[in-house]
Amino acid sequence: MQPVRGPEQTLTFRPRILLADESMRPTRAEIDLDAVAHNLRILRALSAPARVLAVVKADAYGHGVVPVALRLEQEGVSGFGVALAEEGLELREAGVRAPILVLNGVYGDAHVDVLEAGLTPVVYDLAQVEAFERAAGERRVQVHLKIDTGMGRLGVPLRRLPSFLDAMARHPRCHVVGLMTHLSSADSDDDATSEQLERFAEARAQVLRAGHPVATVHVANTAATLRRPDARFDMVRPGGALFGVQPTPEDGLELRPALRLRTEVIALRDLEPGEFVGYDRTFVARRPTRIATVPLGYGDGLLRGLSGCGEMLVRGLRAPIAGRVSMDLTTLDVTDVPGCACGDEVVVVGSQRFEERHATIRAEEVAARAGTIGYDVLTSISRRVPRVHLGG
Ligand SMILES: Cc1ncc(COP(=O)(O)O)c(C=O)c1O
Repeated sequence: MQPVRGPEQTLTFRPRILLADESMRPTRAEIDLDAVAHNLRILRALSAPARVLAVVKADAYGHGVVPVALRLEQEGVSGFGVALAEEGLELREAGVRAPILVLNGVYGDAHVDVLEAGLTPVVYDLAQVEAFERAAGERRVQVHLKIDTGMGRLGVPLRRLPSFLDAMARHPRCHVVGLMTHLSSADSDDDATSEQLERFAEARAQVLRAGHPVATVHVANTAATLRRPDARFDMVRPGGALFGVQPTPEDGLELRPALRLRTEVIALRDLEPGEFVGYDRTFVARRPTRIATVPLGYGDGLLRGLSGCGEMLVRGLRAPIAGRVSMDLTTLDVTDVPGCACGDEVVVVGSQRFEERHATIRAEEVAARAGTIGYDVLTSISRRVPRVHLGG
């Protein structure tokens, strides 16, 4: 502990790691690295001969990027996709040596850092190409070119590709070694996907005609990896599937959810009919009701939209969230959970076994209740929640 001198007093500064110390509170996210490795194997077998680039942006979808990436590297993953240069630098600092693709491009002035760390940038406008040309020095810069085939966010629009390729010819240090696009609706609209793939084929032909040595073509996110063999090309880019999140349940693969968010009951009270629970008194007891309080709320990333409509597992049974989710605490109606006691484990996402009972709440189910998607549930889990990595 370091003493910190304030203007009038000496404070004792506790390193912030204690905030996320699993010994301090019963709320934690357990990440099963064996499940991640298992999911990688399934995706590899499905996609071969295409390689798998593991998308681990946003702290590996909330799973804690460094342990996840180190394990995937051990499993021989072909590379990693991150959204931001900073995310790539974090992986390099942690000792990851596999190729790292910066999917959303490099902005700001990180270009030299990106090259020195051996990250591979995605480019989609000339300003980026110029910046890398300046940062290159004597280096040869390998980039992946992103085409906008209908997502409408990032990428060179098809109609501007000829002039973009002409301009690229004036930047001899930058070499387009990869070509990519991103699909808007791979889990929901096959026609839209086909349309995007047609545009991509046209872009690919133009890029090859312009003489770029494109070695790696990649398009498929999780949904396309699972559902569209024609989108797999040389490499697939799944993120969600690695963590066991499936766009549609009928995909039928044995993907294993990798994250289990758990806490414990810290208080219990019995309400008479007519008594209320929580902010704004949105829950009123209609019968003699037992309420359990758990130390986790929207400050931990539990979606506030679950107020009054979510469920958690206690003793292998589903207990509804009673009233509002607040910042640090949530209340459950455990009237129908016989024997519920302080210290009982509560599972927010994941599976629970209790005696002969076994129950599961998947991230996708939580998401549906809150009107969002599974990725939102997982990436929302805040840094206040310790990640405990289990397995291999
Ligand atoms: C460019 C790109 N590729 C791949 C992915 C992975 O998507 P998913 O997690 O659905 O597999 C993402 C994530 O949104 C992305 O932005």
